[in-house]
Parts: sequence; C-alpha cells; structure tokens
Amino acid sequence: MAPSTSSTVTLDINGEKHTLSVDHRTTLLDALRERLDLTGTKKGCDQGQCGACTVLVDGRRTVSCLQLAVAAEGREITTVEGVAEGGRLHPVQQAFLDLDGFQCGYCTPGQICSAVAVIEEHAAGWPSAVTDDVRPEAGPPPLTPEEIRERMSGNLCRCGAYAPIAEAVARAAAQARAGAGEAVA
Ligand code: FES
Ligand code: FES
Repeated sequence: MAPSTSSTVTLDINGEKHTLSVDHRTTLLDALRERLDLTGTKKGCDQGQCGACTVLVDGRRTVSCLQLAVAAEGREITTVEGVAEGGRLHPVQQAFLDLDGFQCGYCTPGQICSAVAVIEEHAAGWPSAVTDDVRPEAGPPPLTPEEIRERMSGNLCRCGAYAPIAEAVARAAAQARAGAGEAVA
C-alpha cells in the first residue's frame, strides 16, 4: 500500500482549534491562507527571505512559508488576527497606526508579529548581533534604533517605511516597559 501523503491535524490558532486534512507538503502559510481564510498573514517571497508571512509559534517568530502545517500541530500559533486583546488593538498595532508605520500595508502583518516578539525577546534579555555586552548579568541592552533595526531586519518593506516602523516599535516597547513598572527611555 502506498504511504499516505496527507494527515489530519489540529492546529491551535489564536486560541481556537482547527482540525483539517492537509497534504504533508502544505506549509503553515498556505494552511492559514488557503484553508482557514486567515489571510492577514501575507505571502511575499515564499522562500523565507522577506518576513511577510511571520507568525508566532509558541511565542517565537516563525516564517510560516518554511514551516510545514503538520509540524505545527500541538504548538500555539498566533497570527496578526490574534494579537489584539479584549477587543483592543495591541500596543504595537496602535503604534503602527499612530505613527504611519506602513504605506501599502502588505508587509505590515509580518512586521507587527515580529515587533510583538522583538519587544518580548528584548525584555527577556536576549542579545542581538549588535549588542555590545552579551553577558547574561548585563541584562537587556538599551533598545536603541540600531538594536531595533537589527532585530527587525528579517522583515523587508518594499515601500521603505522603515523609519516609522522603527519608531512604532520603539514607542510600543517604551509603553511595555512603562507597563512593567520601568522608567520609559
Ligand atoms: S513569504 Fe515567507 S519569508 Fe517571504
Ligand atoms: S508598507 Fe508596503 S511593503 Fe511595507
């Protein structure tokens, strides 16, 4: 008997379970967009280069065009449709709106998902490639424009809206720090 080329999987997306049969080659991106009508996540390059398809898998940034849907079973997936909380925009979404962190908007869902994770990664003390002092005891480095640019560098914007995108990330990060009781830079 020929081996099966499809499987039934249950995906946990934005707190809801979705059970569907997928070809084993189906990417998470195509499952989201083509099977579940979650079209907020965008397809740009379809080869892991542009970041338009970024979602959060167990809180970590993931380019969904390189993740197989069958490998995402049992993980917590958050798409741009799921980052708002309690009917209110996520602070990152609000900052993008307030500071015009987009032009055509195509890259924006991926930028927002990345920014949500960047702020959490930074607060948790994760260094980046431009962090001077990477010792754990040094704590999170200042979230300088250079740090933001490096940490967001996996998300390309063909419109070149990088300046307001970086400002929006900085504002949302400052709000998160203020909310956590730290001084706003
Ligand atoms: S569509 Fe996935 S990285 Fe470009
Ligand atoms: S806003 Fe158009 S690609 Fe980024």
